[in-house]
Amino acid sequence: MNRCPCPASTGAPASAPSTAAAVVPTELLKRGQRLLEPDVYRTCLHGRAAVVKDYTRYRHTPLSLVARLLVRREARMLQRLGGWRHAPALLGTLGGLALGMEFIPGDTLSDSASYVGREVFDQLQAALNKLHSAGITHNDLHGTNVLVSAGVPVLIDFTAAWQAPRWLRNSLIARQLRRGDRANLLKLRQRLTGLAPTPEQARLAAEPAWIRRLRQAWKQCYRSLKGGR
Ligand SMILES: Nc1ncnc2c1ncn2[C@@H]1O[C@H](COP(=O)(O)OP(=O)(O)O)[C@@H](O)[C@H]1O
Ligand SMILES: [Mg+2]
Repeated sequence: MNRCPCPASTGAPASAPSTAAAVVPTELLKRGQRLLEPDVYRTCLHGRAAVVKDYTRYRHTPLSLVARLLVRREARMLQRLGGWRHAPALLGTLGGLALGMEFIPGDTLSDSASYVGREVFDQLQAALNKLHSAGITHNDLHGTNVLVSAGVPVLIDFTAAWQAPRWLRNSLIARQLRRGDRANLLKLRQRLTGLAPTPEQARLAAEPAWIRRLRQAWKQCYRSLKGGR
């Protein structure tokens, strides 16, 4: 098991730093390179092994407001999911441009392809159903946004997640987003385990014919516009 490398991990909770600048990273997990991608690193917060998603490089830039919004949205979502074994616990926000969460020991689903099987995907499917029944869609479900920790899949990266208000839960957009999550999960499962979806799963993840036609028409239009230049 991964242990928190900070001295406070064995004792009473340490006080939380109020900004990311006061946090000492112990391992860089991902360098933010693309637009509005955070630096993600391991550290200790409140004496616990933690991960910080840090957008501090946007401070004093016009994008700082958007970065703050992303932090707030993800923090709010993790707070809603508090106590659920399929999401990391929120440890708090740090000065508005960073958020801290529980460190989940394990590998990403992409990196665990050689040993994950149907069992993990069944759990993931059940977790996704639970999320959807609370009106929440993840909207960015792929192999590096799921960690597998002691055989339990844990969803991470809730930056794009959305909780539809109750009156919108059966709207076209909410249904389309749920379908997108299901389709991504089935694609992942097929790619990593070779398991094809059952006819019922394929039906639930399939796009309605009119959306498919709209997408194809848009693709053709886009290609001819590009070809015509
Ligand atoms: N709570 C966590 N515990 C362990 N590793 C994490 C955690 N959160 C993120 N990571 C690692 O950092 C990577 C990037 O985090 P992620 O939230 O997906 O950031 P981004 O929004 O840039 O995609 C993940 O793929 C995972 O390897
Ligand atoms: Mg991610």
